[in-house]
Amino acid sequence: MVVVTRPVLEFRDVTLSFSGVTAVDGVSFHVDAGELFAIIGPNGAGKTSIFNVLSGVYRPQTGSVRFEGRDLVGVRPHRIAAMGIARTFQNIELFAHLTVVENLMLGRHNHMRYGALSAFAWVGRARREELANRAAVEEVVDLLELAPWRRMPVGLLPYGVQKRVELGRALAMEPRVLLLDEPVAGMNAEETEDMARFVLDVREELGVAIVMVEHDMGLVMDLADRVLVLDFGRPIRTGTPAEVQRDPDVVRAYLGEAHRVEEHDGGGAAGDRAGGGAAGGDGAGGDAAGEGRAAGGDAAGGERAGDRAAGDRAAGDRAAAGAAGKTSPTGGTAGGAA
Ligand SMILES: Nc1ncnc2c1ncn2[C@@H]1O[C@H](COP(=O)(O)OP(=O)(O)OP(=O)(O)O)[C@@H](O)[C@H]1O
Ligand SMILES: [Mg+2]
Repeated sequence: MVVVTRPVLEFRDVTLSFSGVTAVDGVSFHVDAGELFAIIGPNGAGKTSIFNVLSGVYRPQTGSVRFEGRDLVGVRPHRIAAMGIARTFQNIELFAHLTVVENLMLGRHNHMRYGALSAFAWVGRARREELANRAAVEEVVDLLELAPWRRMPVGLLPYGVQKRVELGRALAMEPRVLLLDEPVAGMNAEETEDMARFVLDVREELGVAIVMVEHDMGLVMDLADRVLVLDFGRPIRTGTPAEVQRDPDVVRAYLGEAHRVEEHDGGGAAGDRAGGGAAGGDGAGGDAAGEGRAAGGDAAGGERAGDRAAGDRAAGDRAAAGAAGKTSPTGGTAGGAA
């Protein structure tokens, strides 16, 4: 008997342009159920833009995007989140003054049907719903080992733990696809190891498909089933980590000779990780990580990213956060997603 399984995500011939810049240029890929699919490439290659298309923040000019067979183009971000696609952000997007548990509860808003008024009329059901939401949050707290910080305001937590809370907020939505945008950017080696373990736990215990954008090559090569390499918005190669690492075009565009690993043994890649760009500095977020990458890897990567539309990109991320029902740590809400 032949079992045909449909991909969870299908991205076909997608092009996304901003006045003059083609951020995503004819990109196609699919993600299978339970798969960990990585997207890599230099700064400005279009990785976050792909996430913004997948989550409905940007509408591509051409191509099709399907989730479990359903067309996502033109679907609003909150609808896509409710359908089962959750994401984390390149720069942390949490309510800094709320506790860990409160932030995780916000991830449940898709599952909350009873507001304050209906709670009066439906005391029993509203209460049952509240209990179910709390139980779901507690499962996330257990899985990500967040118990020690549960009642602390997120803004006071170490950077690595904040990134973990963000993962938790996405998981609280009970997604079937999880989009992780640079989950270890700016982390030290120990935090990176922790995050790698949690990502694997999430995948094994929850069975969600994961799409991960990451500059830390050790992490990508250890965790990913398949990797898509982008350069200037264009796909250069899709393959297993071993295939991608050996591809001369990939080495030229992104990895650089210094990063070429002839035979990756799949284990104990702490050394690779340290060298692969996790050295993002002080954890101040994307900028520090960006400098670390430019210095550590393909020097041209930094130049390419330049300052092109840096403000716009930040705005895009904030818009995405707003669409997901959150504010940035700085307190600004951004609702006006494209
Ligand atoms: N809202 C926007 N307006 C204009 N240009 C944009 C916008 N969003 C992204 N871009 C441009 O699209 C290109 C791809 O950006 P994107 O953020 O997707 O790159 P990336 O691969 O995630 O890079 P990084 O590794 O630095 O995070 C860049 O040239 C960027 O300046
Ligand atoms: Mg990005």
